[in-house]
Amino acid sequence: PDKLKGKKVIFVVGGPGCGKGTQCERIVAKYGYTHLSSGDLLRDEVKSGSERGKKLTEIMEQGKLVPMETVLELLRDAMIAKADTSNGFLIDGYPREVIQGTEFESNIQECDCVLYFECSAETMTERLLGRAKTSGRVDDNEETIKKRLDTFYSATEPVVSHYEEKGKLRKINAEREVEAIFADVCAALDGKEGGKEDEGGKED
Ligand code: AP5
Repeated sequence: PDKLKGKKVIFVVGGPGCGKGTQCERIVAKYGYTHLSSGDLLRDEVKSGSERGKKLTEIMEQGKLVPMETVLELLRDAMIAKADTSNGFLIDGYPREVIQGTEFESNIQECDCVLYFECSAETMTERLLGRAKTSGRVDDNEETIKKRLDTFYSATEPVVSHYEEKGKLRKINAEREVEAIFADVCAALDGKEGGKEDEGGKED
């Protein structure tokens, strides 16, 4: 769509609970980008009580990916709605399959870079179980967390290699404290990482 031409797009990827949402909050506060989380958009659709929303709950409870067309449509509509006031978009939780990325880029806008939060399955599980008590999310339970991790390793890891080959991947070690991770995020967004990725925390 014309409205979105020339807008900056940053994809944010990483396994469940790696801290995408936590870091996006900080990025928005510093850089002013518009944060769109595919998971949040889907949960809003469920809450709306629409027919489409009813079908989504079951898939999300199983930790599987919902149909690409649904996510793409929700993202595109949200981007168009914010286009006039936004100086760039942080697309959190998307793409989760290589085809999601290629479809987005050919139909909406090319991405500038991809932030990838690398984190071990143990750490992600621990964080999500910690959050489970209060999140109220249908997918924050031990069984679904395992499935979300499986989906990540089978469907989303290829996304990482895809953008690495294109030279667009910014790999961040997400195993550390929030502020240390954010320092690396800023370096990556400011292009100050000196071409070296994933050596988090060493540049100070
Ligand atoms: P989505 O909502 O995207 O969930 P997710 O990827 O599983 O990730 P989360 O939002 O749960 O975690 P996060 O990485 O944002 O971590 P957070 O900052 O919250 O997707 C949900 C479902 O929707 C999917 O399973 C799928 O069904 C569907 N879906 C979504 N996108 C889709 C798509 N593109 N295509 C198809 N289906 C799609 O942090 C987690 C916890 O850890 C918090 O408690 C936080 O406080 C804590 N924490 C964060 N960072 C740190 C740190 N550095 N140290 C210690 N604790 C930390």
